[in-house]
Amino acid sequence: MPYKHVKIAGTGSYLPDRVVTNDDLAVKLDTNDEWIFSHTGIRQRRIADDSQSPVDMAFEASQKALAEAGMEPDELGMILLSTCTGDYNYLPSSACLLQHRLGANNAGAFDLLAACSGFVYCLEMARCWAVCNQKPVLIVANEMLSRITDWESRETCILFGDGAAAVILTPSRENGLLYSYLGADGENSRLLYVDGGSRLARGREPIAPSYVQMQGRTTFSIAVRALEQVVLKILKDNKLQIEDIAHIIPHQANMRILETLAKRLNIPIERLHANIDRVANTSSASIPILLDELKEQGKLKPNDLILTVAFGGGLTYGGNLIRWQPES
Ligand code: ACO
Repeated sequence: MPYKHVKIAGTGSYLPDRVVTNDDLAVKLDTNDEWIFSHTGIRQRRIADDSQSPVDMAFEASQKALAEAGMEPDELGMILLSTCTGDYNYLPSSACLLQHRLGANNAGAFDLLAACSGFVYCLEMARCWAVCNQKPVLIVANEMLSRITDWESRETCILFGDGAAAVILTPSRENGLLYSYLGADGENSRLLYVDGGSRLARGREPIAPSYVQMQGRTTFSIAVRALEQVVLKILKDNKLQIEDIAHIIPHQANMRILETLAKRLNIPIERLHANIDRVANTSSASIPILLDELKEQGKLKPNDLILTVAFGGGLTYGGNLIRWQPES
């Protein structure tokens, strides 16, 4: 009998060694630790070394997840990589570069672009593929936002950090991914974008570097509403109360966003897991990095319900309801 469900069989994450504090940024920018921390909750971020490429980070995180799952790379059926910062511009995909580095010789591989919501999108896409094909999927959320950040813009560069995290999803008798909700709002695509791309006709002259552009205030208020809507929908569709959820893992965009969300949900802020003070916003990697940290800290218990909730450029939003190490 084919397995009808999937479960998480391994996780791993990778953060670059270099720590950049708010004080470090204040050396070159008109900003300071007090402003950044009070407006974002961020104290520091990890930034990749110039010699590292994004796929180097994906490789490290993937190896840890494979080791935990006790799986060899050639057992994988698919690699699904979420990123806004591919090693190349669209071609080849970072997933294909990773497939070769790992020696995952029996796997298909492709990138998925849903910005900060990329991991919650990947989980659901991977569930569908794994159940249809009865093979394990490697999901990697891999973001080197330092490469698309304007380090002279104090409005944006304070927000972002680099990092990667990987999850192995295997077909399973037990149900480890109970539900996902995915949405998009393309009407607001210009709130958060990186310019360039193929909509522009090109000459042969080199193009200027493209950086993240963001309307912070508007993004903030739309983010709060979207996150609240996702949490309430997941609870309602699964006939759950917020008290039934052992761990809420939100995308780490801004601590003020999380505080406003907690107020709207009428829960103490401590109910929302956070590591933004140490790693800043790592886009789609933020949820699986936090998931891996909680696992390493021994905070996730068998059968715990975990709710993920994300919001990002596109605009995209969504969340998952996970059962951790489900017992039959
Ligand atoms: N240091 C000091 N002052 C600053 C800084 C800084 N780093 N940045 C902005 N300021 C100043 C501004 O110039 C402005 O000065 P003025 O009043 O003299 O004009 C003042 O501070 C207020 O600026 P705002 O932009 O209105 O500040 P705000 O309180 O809105 O905070 C922030 C800005 C942190 C960007 C916030 O709007 C935010 O977090 N928005 C959401 C970001 C987000 O979630 N993005 C989505 C995810 S990213 C992704 O998908 C890749």
